[in-house]
Amino acid sequence: MTDETRRQWSPLAQAYLESPTHARGEDLDTMLAFADPIAHEIALDLGCGVGHTLRRVATRVRLAVGVDPTPGMLEGARTLLARESVTNAVLVTSPAEALPFLESTFDIATCRLAAHHFADVAKAFREVHRVLRPGGRFVLSDNYAPDDEALDRFINTLEGTRDRTHVREHTIAGWRGLLEQSGFDVTDESRGTVHIETEPWLARSRTPEADARRAREMLRGAPKPTIDAFGIDERGFDLLKVVLRATR
Ligand SMILES: C[S@@+](CC[C@H](N)C(=O)[O-])C[C@H]1O[C@@H](n2cnc3c(N)ncnc32)[C@H](O)[C@@H]1O
Repeated sequence: MTDETRRQWSPLAQAYLESPTHARGEDLDTMLAFADPIAHEIALDLGCGVGHTLRRVATRVRLAVGVDPTPGMLEGARTLLARESVTNAVLVTSPAEALPFLESTFDIATCRLAAHHFADVAKAFREVHRVLRPGGRFVLSDNYAPDDEALDRFINTLEGTRDRTHVREHTIAGWRGLLEQSGFDVTDESRGTVHIETEPWLARSRTPEADARRAREMLRGAPKPTIDAFGIDERGFDLLKVVLRATR
């Protein structure tokens, strides 16, 4: 957890509480189907932010633990959990790379739209492997980059211009490889796209105006193959989404 990450995320809780791409999304239903929770189980949600995934998982398990290093986001999660009358969730301030839990504590782990911000995602996935019990399920939902190198560079540069704490959207093979190298078997995959409206997307992360201008210029000046790959139009563009189910 860098100071930059904390500075970036702490004031953003309100915007993420209201963000339609975070509050809703087909990927949440897919994640729950992949996790297939049982009522007596214990779940961990990494990079829980203001708790959109945590609250959904909590309704299906005995206890749900949300972990995030940013106090401001956890404050937002407290608001959301209270509003939704969730009483079986616990919030812990911690980076995913150093989880303060014993081996084999959890039956399920989830991580949605957060791993592309992790400073050391391989270390975080090894930590998930450590704290999940044998046979436990890890469901990862995140953006992915196309296999084409120029398209990969485009989307990661665009995301990094919008948000300096962006680390990397991996290709699907990259996400799968990271899970496998951490000891998981990847058993299921589901792909989708979400159309993003550029201006609310920039406003949500409070991108400084000079960077916002560069991001708009990247979208306006994109070559035809990039326009086609990301469905770029005057209002926005598509983010490519993948949900992966892995077992320990
Ligand atoms: C887009 S939000 C997460 C959204 C949330 N999972 C949901 O379903 O709505 C990204 C979160 O990643 C968190 N984050 C950044 N670096 C992290 C790290 N190293 N470990 C865990 N979380 C991290 C940020 O604090 C932020 O709350």
